[in-house]
This record gives sequence, structure tokens and C-alpha cells, in this order.
Amino acid sequence: MEKGEQMKFRTSSAVVLFFGFLLPVYPSALPGKAAYNASCRNCHGPEGKGDRMSDSFYKVTIPRLNSNYVQEKSDDELKKIITGGVRKMGPAKMGAPSSPHSRKITPEQADEVIQYVRTLKK
Ligand code: HEC
Repeated sequence: MEKGEQMKFRTSSAVVLFFGFLLPVYPSALPGKAAYNASCRNCHGPEGKGDRMSDSFYKVTIPRLNSNYVQEKSDDELKKIITGGVRKMGPAKMGAPSSPHSRKITPEQADEVIQYVRTLKK
């Protein structure tokens, strides 16, 4: 391989590695769903239907995201809850809480999650 070719090869494999790393975070075409699964599902269960293990861990029946109680909240209220937390719930993070890669959810990701949560309405 020529020097120039070698460089090209190295650059393109770096690009593949970089995007390959991002893929697990956004596996679906619906970004809100991916963000939901990465940041809410652990405690709120698949499709917001709840998770009994989390209920017993937090010693509270965690509000079901498909319920009227949650769906009647405005987008602004939901955004405040997601980015700022509420009572026993801390500000939402992307990725498993124990992961060194978890970071606070961005306002854009919060908007996507809210769009997805709206699709869960019973
Ligand atoms: C680490 C666990 C955990 C994660 C992750 C989590 N929540 Fe929660 N959530 C809770 C708990 C616990 C409560 C109930 C808080 C209480 O009543 O003290 C709650 C309550 C809520 C409520 C009801 C608030 C209210 O006013 O009663 C909404 C809405 C909500 N969560 C949305 C979300 C969304 C959307 C995400 C993802 C962006 C998310 N939560 C991520 C644990 C979590």
C-alpha cells in the first residue's frame, strides 16, 4: 500500500468506528423511542406501562406514562420533569445510570422523548 492509500484507509476505518459507536444509541428510525429506551424505560417500563421492580425500589407507584394523569400534563410540564426531575425522580440521563457514558438528557432529546410519550396515550 502507498503512503497516501494507507492514510485514506486509516481515516475511513476511524469514521466507521465512530459511527458504529453511535449506532447502539439510535437503533430505530424514531429518535424519540430510542431516547425513551435509553433514558426512561429502566424505571417506566416498555411503552411507559410501568415496571413493578422500579415501583418497589422507589416505594411508590411510578406514574404510568400512558395514563391520563401524565398525558394531561403540558409539554412544558413534562419537559421540566424530564430535565429537572420531580420528587424521587432525578433529572433524566441518557444511558444506564451506572454507565460512565451517561449524561444529562439534552433539551432536544427531551422534546423527542415527549413526542414519543404522546404516542403512548391509551
Ligand atoms: C431512575 C428512575 C427513573 C427514570 C430513569 C425516569 N423516571 Fe420518571 N419517575 C420516576 C419515579 C420514581 C417517579 C415518581 C416520583 C415520585 O412520585 O416521587 C417518576 C415520575 C415521573 C412522572 C410523573 C411526574 C409527576 O408529576 O407525578 C413523569 C411524567 C415521568 N416520570 C417521566 C419520565 C420520563 C419521560 C423519563 C425519561 C426521560 C423518566 N421519567 C425517567 C423514576 C424515573
